[in-house]
Amino acid sequence: MKWYKVCEVDEIPVMGARTVRFNGLEAGIFRLSDGRIKAVENRCPHKGGPLSEGIVSGETVICPMHGLKISLIDGSALPPDEGNVKTYEIKTEGEKVWIMF
Ligand code: FES
Repeated sequence: MKWYKVCEVDEIPVMGARTVRFNGLEAGIFRLSDGRIKAVENRCPHKGGPLSEGIVSGETVICPMHGLKISLIDGSALPPDEGNVKTYEIKTEGEKVWIMF
């Protein structure tokens, strides 16, 4: 595991996401409306939908495939749904965004 530079903060749309790939892994990096940046595995636990293409609502992302809501804080599906995705650590240095992969 090590830190990888991803992008500049402004390259992630507010309440949107971008996708990054390292070492065969793919993550969605999300920017919440309050400016926090969160990263989760870009694969819905239901049927693998690309979460980075979902709609961000508060601290959750809504899967674009069938609407499962995933917490961007801990990666868990919101009840009544079940399942979870891996979360990745993010840090920012100035305008630069780093991810731990
Ligand atoms: S693949 Fe995400 S809700 Fe079905």
